[in-house]
Amino acid sequence: MPCATWLLHVDRQAWPHWLASVHALVLRAEPELGEGFRVVTLRAPVEALPLMASGLARWAQPVAGRTPTAALRSEDGAREVAALWADLARERGSKHISIYRVRKHAAKAAERLARQLELALATAVMITTADGSSVVRANADDLVTSIAVGDTEALLGFTTFRAAGSPYPGGLPPVFVDDAPSRARWKLRESLDWLALTAPDHPEPRRWLELGAYPGGMTAELAGRGAHVVAVDLATGAVPAHPAVTWHRTDASTFTTDARFDAILCDMNGTPSSAARNVARLASSLEVGGLLVHTLKLPHWEDLPTVRAKVEEILKDVGFTLLGCRHLAYNRQEVTLLARKT
Ligand SMILES: C[S@@+](CC[C@H](N)C(=O)[O-])C[C@H]1O[C@@H](n2cnc3c(N)ncnc32)[C@H](O)[C@@H]1O
Repeated sequence: MPCATWLLHVDRQAWPHWLASVHALVLRAEPELGEGFRVVTLRAPVEALPLMASGLARWAQPVAGRTPTAALRSEDGAREVAALWADLARERGSKHISIYRVRKHAAKAAERLARQLELALATAVMITTADGSSVVRANADDLVTSIAVGDTEALLGFTTFRAAGSPYPGGLPPVFVDDAPSRARWKLRESLDWLALTAPDHPEPRRWLELGAYPGGMTAELAGRGAHVVAVDLATGAVPAHPAVTWHRTDASTFTTDARFDAILCDMNGTPSSAARNVARLASSLEVGGLLVHTLKLPHWEDLPTVRAKVEEILKDVGFTLLGCRHLAYNRQEVTLLARKT
């Protein structure tokens, strides 16, 4: 029976639920390579879409070559692998090369391979690491030679960022170092990078309504990008003051406004349905074509299909169309949903 082997990046906690959601497709799932990366063999050469369907995969690339990392421990070994993989890249017409390391320990092997590929292909190779990365600036639909280097194995694949499901090689976002009041800021950056991949025609919104804004990581990010933010939260305390931020310490369920917005951002705690009802109630203040970035907090991972269906139903009733729903690298037990008001 024809089958296909894929390299996937799925959060360790979410893994059993990803597996359950595509159970019938999977012939073999190999042990973790590190940091949530795993190789799975599917019963049929299916496209990436079903792999991403549950929203839990952060990256999915077909495997076109594998070598033990031990083979990259010497310059000669790395040269041999690079020669073979450079030929494959030429055959496929792939102009961008990205190497991401799945484990810190694999740094030397990744660097050696990158150097040899640069020599073989006379092109720059970007290395992405899990702790401070450079990002390949290929277009979403450019074919990228994408190499994951783990402790035990290095894997080669050819994919586009769009098909693989993430704007970052391996689905590994850069580690943003700043003094934001919360790491939610990084989640928002990742959401906006993902929006650019998912809906490249969507302009970055300028006027935001933010529900569940305290302590203000996302507010700070938006203000820093030049946006105006109406920030709402019932917490004691306030988001950092900024001339472009209007702060309302109040319950989102009673908040009203006459202002108009290009986007609603909802990162409220509580049940996803009640958060979605608050978004739905305020949806009339959103312009047609406006964006929704909504974090769905999951009581349990296995609730995802039900939660998503309920929330989609609530949002559909007020004219939202889903653009995507996925587990971002900066999401904890939650997924981020992108929708557009039609
Ligand atoms: C995950 S935190 C938000 C983090 C924030 N987005 C940031 O960037 O720092 C969730 C917030 O939702 C707020 N929240 C929960 N229920 C709310 C409600 N009914 N109205 C307003 N805020 C609410 C909580 O007070 C809490 O501050």
